[in-house]
Amino acid sequence: MKNIIIFGAPGSGKGTYSDEIVNRYGMGHISTGDVLRGEIKQGSEIGKIAKELIDKGQLIPDDLMVQILAKTYDALPQGRGVIFDGFPRTIAQAEALKQMLQERGHDMGVMVELIVDEETLMERLLRRAQIEGRADDNAETIKKRFEVYHSQTEPLAAWFEKEGIRHTFTWEGSKEKMLANIFAFLDTLK
Ligand code: AP5
Ligand code: MG
Repeated sequence: MKNIIIFGAPGSGKGTYSDEIVNRYGMGHISTGDVLRGEIKQGSEIGKIAKELIDKGQLIPDDLMVQILAKTYDALPQGRGVIFDGFPRTIAQAEALKQMLQERGHDMGVMVELIVDEETLMERLLRRAQIEGRADDNAETIKKRFEVYHSQTEPLAAWFEKEGIRHTFTWEGSKEKMLANIFAFLDTLK
């Protein structure tokens, strides 16, 4: 399978659909949020920097994030395709990803954009807060994450459009339908 960049607001289902895609196509998966939460758990230097920013709903600096991404990517088995979940989140990260992949003779593949209304996103994340207790899943931090998404990440959609790889899927109230639409598209790439 080609590489896939899964893109969308907090709670749009990047992680959920990535798991389904991995099950179907057997590819690698990098969730930069999960990588950072792993660093926090270990109490590493990166984890200390990340905790403070994640708890405030802010982004980790691009240069650090790009280094983490390259290290994680190079540690995965090559040739099966990778889903990038939560990366890139800024134009600078997107440029760096494109270059990093080019240097390795790979390409970005396709971008899968998930569009979900904000009321649904908030409901999902507050529900997850009760189940998983993620530190950034409280109403105040979620609002900050939405703000950061709109100001820093959403403009990237146009960047992918220019690259000719943007494919948008809009939530219409059914997970099965959303997944069927995504699979119908990805099946054409195999
Ligand atoms: P990250 O972990 O990536 O969080 P996020 O983008 O806020 O997204 P979430 O993981 O909350 O949601 P999701 O889209 O994966 O949805 P999910 O499938 O879980 O990043 C966290 C932080 O790390 C950032 O704020 C930043 O500080 C830092 N960071 C990470 N990457 C960075 C980068 N590249 N640069 C700088 N900083 C970075 O679904 C949400 C919930 O909804 C789940 O509980 C799910 O079960 C439920 N759900 C209910 N119905 C559905 C449905 N129909 N479809 C999908 N999910 C559903
Ligand atoms: Mg996630």
